Amino acid sequence: MALVDDLEHPPTSQESARRRFLAAVGGGALGVGALGAAITTLRFIEPSVVYEEDKRIAVGRPEEIAVGTVLVLASGKVYLLRTEAGFIALSTVCTHLGCIVRPEAGSGGFACPCHGSRFRAEGTVRLGPAVRELRRHPISVEDGLLIVDAGAFTEDRAAFTVPA
Ligand code: FES
Repeated sequence: MALVDDLEHPPTSQESARRRFLAAVGGGALGVGALGAAITTLRFIEPSVVYEEDKRIAVGRPEEIAVGTVLVLASGKVYLLRTEAGFIALSTVCTHLGCIVRPEAGSGGFACPCHGSRFRAEGTVRLGPAVRELRRHPISVEDGLLIVDAGAFTEDRAAFTVPA
């Protein structure tokens, strides 16, 4: 498109070259902007789904785990106990402020090293400051193997017994 000024004073070859350069830079910037907008739009449309890994742990055959056994599972996140009443899978996370509880020698329960809470073997509070008992993980039996789901919690307070 010719400007009025161009008609009266035709551009020199140097001015024409500069205009072509500026037009190319402007077109490139528009292209980059359009590409960025397209990528952002596509990322917005794509569903952002997070697939979590299965955290169910096959511990072994229940009849091979003796009464009184405490197993540490899931890289220290779960204690599996075999009691007279059955199996209990406790979270190792203290319900006060989230420290990791450890088996307490002598009591058969657990002690928190941070602020001194004590828990009984079945996870109930024996000594504060924690007021809530340790959380429990669901237990099941599949194909004869005891399964602890370290990725879920249950409100069921009964010890798990293997169905006959
Ligand atoms: S975090 Fe366990 S007693 Fe405070």
